[in-house]
Amino acid sequence: MKSNPDLADRESVEARASGRLTARGKKVFVKSYGCQMNVYDAARMADVLAPEGFVETNDIGAADLVVLNTCHIREKASDKVFSELGKLKLMKDERQSEGRDLQIAVAGCVAQAEGAEILRRQRAVDIVVGPQSYHRLPELVRQATRGPVIDTEFPAEDKFDHLVAPTEDKVRQRGVSAFLTVQEGCDKFCSFCVVPYTRGAEVSRDAAKIVLEAEALARAGVREITLLGQNVNGYHGRGENDEDWSLAQLLERLARIEGLARLRYTTSHPNDMGEDLIRAHGESPSLMPFLHLPVQSGSDRILNTMNRKHSAEDYLRLVERIRAARPDIALSSDFIVGFPGETDEDFEATLALIHNVGFASTFHFKYSPRAGTPGADLKDQVPEEVKTERLVRLGELVEAQRRAFNLSVVGRNIDVLFEKPGKKPGQVSGKTPYLQTVQIEAPDSLIGEVATVEIVECGANTLFGRIARGEASNRRGEEAF
Ligand code: SAH
Ligand code: SF4
Ligand code: F3S
Repeated sequence: MKSNPDLADRESVEARASGRLTARGKKVFVKSYGCQMNVYDAARMADVLAPEGFVETNDIGAADLVVLNTCHIREKASDKVFSELGKLKLMKDERQSEGRDLQIAVAGCVAQAEGAEILRRQRAVDIVVGPQSYHRLPELVRQATRGPVIDTEFPAEDKFDHLVAPTEDKVRQRGVSAFLTVQEGCDKFCSFCVVPYTRGAEVSRDAAKIVLEAEALARAGVREITLLGQNVNGYHGRGENDEDWSLAQLLERLARIEGLARLRYTTSHPNDMGEDLIRAHGESPSLMPFLHLPVQSGSDRILNTMNRKHSAEDYLRLVERIRAARPDIALSSDFIVGFPGETDEDFEATLALIHNVGFASTFHFKYSPRAGTPGADLKDQVPEEVKTERLVRLGELVEAQRRAFNLSVVGRNIDVLFEKPGKKPGQVSGKTPYLQTVQIEAPDSLIGEVATVEIVECGANTLFGRIARGEASNRRGEEAF
């Protein structure tokens, strides 16, 4: 029943004019796997569907459209998608028996890599859309009412120019720490990695557009932005002065945006760590002293077959230079164990590198052969049980380093950006500059503030503390840049 026919009519005329009559009042559920860029993309997919009348829901049972935003990096990540699709098919069958429908979209890197194969393996899927074409989702959703559609092109147009900005309310709901993609794709072709094939060639966004997006986030209360790129430190986008800017220049510009207290960037390649970026770590108070710098292996022979184009010694020297610029910087890294041809000696070299550097945290994986990458065709694939044993040994070493790093901040006063309510009522949770989680007893009003906290205890994954005595809380907008 229409309580206000005039308004309803006007809305439907406007909706028809913009071609978005189909989805008024429908709900979309987006589930993301994989890296932070997928988290960013998932939010942008919801944003691009919002003007079509799709409201985001956390309840998959209430959704009219389910988008699986997938990751292809390792076999396990890819396989997960097909088991998830099996469950969605049952849900769709049940819905259809009740005379309703459920649209299923597969987005992300599995969509790009597998394309039509997804429709062959799971006929319940309506839409397959790659990471470079998800701005076309509204059109694809409309087309899919007539039959399954696939869009895995690398379109000529820039997807970012066709995305829809989120409302301030939406940004607020997503929290005070936000991701922002500044560079996408990869031209490095490490021999184990699918990313150059799934995300395409390396492209940097124009600085002016990034600044606009960051300013809008800051206006809606975002205090921390993590710039994203598959090789983010290789950023070389058009600057506001029409010259190419490096990541350091972009960071310097973003640091001037009012309200932004913290800047981070991920993921970096050791070969793109420019002198100006290293210097920025020593000079910019808003650039957080934490750097994720994947090295993968400590063996030169393996680094060479991985096509990483640097030696273990190059990495160690780079770490020295970064630490000279910013002595308190915490480092994290990615490691692959059991890459083809990896001997015990190669693996020991990786452990030696880890001992040598000392990491605050790491991600470590068993090598997973990926079809279409050179690594998959190499002889001397390492047996599964050897990979498992190496992963356990490496895991014990990096866990000890993580624990030691967390214990080293106990008794210290550290700035914490509070992000959300804590686990228990009356607690709030935030992050140190080194990305450690901190919980303290304090009111929710602290969320969005940076306050100095005395760390008193170190749990398994969380630090506990209290507002430092005599330290005025660092109120919104008062941070030095
Ligand atoms: N661009 C980043 C990493 C992107 S992928 C970089 O250059 O380091 C994230 C991590 O997944 C990689 O650092 C690597 O450690 C891991 N990874 C990628 N492909 C893999 C594979 N085939 N098997 C196991 N781990 C892999
Ligand atoms: Fe993959 Fe290597 Fe590119 Fe990183 S640099 S995304 S590991 S190919
Ligand atoms: Fe996965 Fe694609 Fe990210 S393969 S790690 S979702 S770039």
